This record gives sequence, structure tokens and C-alpha cells, in this order.
Amino acid sequence: MTQLSEMLQETTQFILEKGVKEIDFGLILGSGLGELAEEIEEAIVIPYDQIPFFPTSTVVGHAGQLVYGTLSGKKVLAMQGRFHFYEGHSMQTVTYPVRVMAALKAHSVIVTNASGGVNESFVPGDLMLITDHINFTGQNPLIGPNEDEIGPRFPDMSEAYTLTYREVAKEAASQLDLTLKEGVYMGYSGPTYETPAEIRMSRTMGADAVGMSTVPEVIVAAHSGLKVLGISCITNLAAGMQANLNHEEVVETTQRVKQSFKALIKEVLVLL
Ligand code: HPA
Repeated sequence: MTQLSEMLQETTQFILEKGVKEIDFGLILGSGLGELAEEIEEAIVIPYDQIPFFPTSTVVGHAGQLVYGTLSGKKVLAMQGRFHFYEGHSMQTVTYPVRVMAALKAHSVIVTNASGGVNESFVPGDLMLITDHINFTGQNPLIGPNEDEIGPRFPDMSEAYTLTYREVAKEAASQLDLTLKEGVYMGYSGPTYETPAEIRMSRTMGADAVGMSTVPEVIVAAHSGLKVLGISCITNLAAGMQANLNHEEVVETTQRVKQSFKALIKEVLVLL
């Protein structure tokens, strides 16, 4: 057995011993969006600091625990708080929870985040369906030896964000009378927000939103054969498009739109 498989076996065994059973969807809840996990029924909560090979999360607005249970009639394993590359974690650590979800036989992952709007038609508070991404982190979590039994050496990223899931998300939004923007998410490493010049570059390159997460996790989801739905909360206009940027505004906006965000994800889970 190779090292990653051994780690996964220890982690999944620990999680299963806590009472976690079958999983349909992994949920990754971004900055300020973790409250959704409070609606999970018959919840089993596992703090990250108890889980073998999980580091502890440090960012404000992130609780740092797994929550397992039923949401909209589906079995979910939610991450209330995620790991970021800018915290100093390796890309392997950042994406380890997605590996765990796949090892626990989830078939899909719903990835959420807070992001800055690059598309000039976006306003803070918009929800954006992620159609595709640009990996601008300068890193890739799959660099290194490949374990062929986990996934292919050269994963196809042609449809990293599952088309049928995008259609379902649009249907859910329309049923709820919610406006759902769509676009390309460009992932930077952070922790600085971008410069105005970088944002102009991002727009030219085809980005609609920018952020500091999601891309590594979606790469590993693709590698693991997981279907993906990505929803971004546009918390601010990107650098150069508004006076200045700060984390307080990011959290404030997520608080303002959390009801719509939660309703959307729950309806998506009903329909999927
Ligand atoms: N840039 C990068 N990450 C972000 C932003 C942003 O403007 N807003 C929220 N997360």
C-alpha cells in the first residue's frame, strides 16, 4: 500500500467509527457560508483537530469541523471551514478532505466560496454558478507521484464542473425566484487580494470572479472521479472596481445573502 492510501484508510476508519455511514454529497462551505451545516439533521459533528491527518483551520468565519447527516433528504458530509494554501498548508493537505470524501464513496461534491466580482455586470451579494475555472495558483495538488488506483496521471478537466449539475442549479434558482449569475472562477493563492492590474488581466483572460480557494479541491475531485457543483458568493467587486477590499466586507456580504445561499443549496440537493 502506498502512503496516501494508508493515510486515507486511517482517516476513513476514524470517521466511520464516529457513526458516519453512506455519503451522497460532500459539501465544502466557504467563508461565512458554514451556517448551512447547522441545518443538517441527526448531525454527527467531528472537529478537525480530532481527525487523523487533518490540520486545524485558522481563518475567521471558519468553524473547523465535519458535519455528517441528512440535508434535503440526502446524506451529506459537510466541511464547516476549509483549508487554504495561503495558510501555509501544502496543496496535498488543502485537498485531503476531498480525498477523504471520495474514499468514503461520496459520488459528488458541492464546493462553495466567497469571491470578488470581476465581471462588470456583477454586484456584491450575487450568487454565481461556477462554469469553469482558471488555475492561477502556480501550483497543482496532483504534482508528485500518481496513485493509479486513486485516479489517472493526466486527468481530463474538460467538464470539471458537471454540466447536468449546472442545469439543476439553474432550475433550483428559477424555482426559488433567485437570480443565479454564471461564470469562470479564477483561483489565486492569496493571501493578498489582487492588484487592480491583476484584475484587468483576469478579466482579459476570461475570469468572472477571483478567489483563494476551490481550484485545488476541484482538481482533486476531478482526479477522484467526483461530480462537482460550484457556487460562489460574490462578496465584493474585485480590486480597482471599488474603493478598497477587506475581509469584514466579505463576511458581511455572506451574512446578508446566506438565506438565499442556503435555500439554493438545499433546493439543489432536493433536485439532484
Ligand atoms: N479576491 C480574492 N478572494 C476573495 C475576494 C477577492 O476580491 N473576495 C472574497 N474572496
